[in-house]
Amino acid sequence: EKGGYDYFMLKEIDEQPGAVADTLRGHLLNGQIVLDEQRLDAQELRDVDKVFVVACGSSFHAGLIGKQAIEHWTRVPVEVELASEFRYRDPVLDRQTLVVAISQSGETADTLEAVRYARTQRAKVLAICNTNGAQIPRESDAVLYTHAGPEIGVASTKAFLAQIAAVELVGLALAQARGTKYVDEIQREFDALAAIPDQIARVLEQLDAVRAVAREIATSKAVLFLGRHVGYPVALEGALKLKELAYMHAEGFPAGELKHGPIALIEDGLPVVVIMPSPIGRPVLHQKMGSNIAEIKARGARTIVIAEEGDLVARSHADYLIEVPAVPTLLTPFVTTVPLQVLAAEIAQARGYDVDKPRNLAKSVTVE
Ligand code: F6R
Repeated sequence: EKGGYDYFMLKEIDEQPGAVADTLRGHLLNGQIVLDEQRLDAQELRDVDKVFVVACGSSFHAGLIGKQAIEHWTRVPVEVELASEFRYRDPVLDRQTLVVAISQSGETADTLEAVRYARTQRAKVLAICNTNGAQIPRESDAVLYTHAGPEIGVASTKAFLAQIAAVELVGLALAQARGTKYVDEIQREFDALAAIPDQIARVLEQLDAVRAVAREIATSKAVLFLGRHVGYPVALEGALKLKELAYMHAEGFPAGELKHGPIALIEDGLPVVVIMPSPIGRPVLHQKMGSNIAEIKARGARTIVIAEEGDLVARSHADYLIEVPAVPTLLTPFVTTVPLQVLAAEIAQARGYDVDKPRNLAKSVTVE
């Protein structure tokens, strides 16, 4: 059933174009974004004046990406919070708050308890979930299912990409309900999303550079990941994959924070993965990231740069360059995450670990 793959995880990485396409399918009907279950009326959605995304682990990273899209499209403020933190403080919630709970399994105890808490405060809850009929969607006011199919590998891959698609659809649904986007704009954003599976497939065809890097850094003690804007959650996700699969110390930072502390960690030979913003989509951030790479290189870091095809600055600064196709900025995590998943899986295998069953981890965490 692994279909010729050594591990489910590797198969699931390859299934990502389909996971995203299937998650989009059926969610735009006659120019309208439709959810799978909707127990909220149009007025309640229109009245939403604040969004909290609550989730754990990789699902939290999908939320951080979603924040950028939701705020950009709706102008509604969005906070993204780890479910285990959210429910034990005193978050400001009321009936105009929408809590978006993201969970692959739909059974994660921290997220479920956050949903229950939100409901006691009269907030509305929308679940993004990969498992039909799981507890979190059952206790929510609206549901958008990701259609990644069952994910067997403990580390999330295809479910994560499907979650990004889903949270972006939720952003469009809110924009539509609130009238901050016209029908033709929604259609355009949806079409851009629909073009993504082919771009992911292209990334999957060009993984030789990633495999070569994996061999080079497999024995390193630690790896840092730097990103900006939507590249920051991608950096966090790349670091999480490496921790859980390869048991390496890995950390993701927003590149602008470097000089406020983390740069002290840079020493000779330390591998640093940089998720480069697009030179065309985000020229200012691209330039700043160019300076960040120069700074860490001057201190001896080995730079592994994930950059848009044709990015000459990235090419000139990179010890190892991994190119991905150009896509609209809010959609770049779909293409920049994939090489990081493969990097972690390859390093883990080089170190002799079972990537489907990392030590100490469970697929579904049903205790708090
Ligand atoms: C990371 C991973 C975990 C889950 C987290 C949330 O690869 O799989 O961090 O993302 O435990 O799980 P769900 O999404 O099922 O609530």
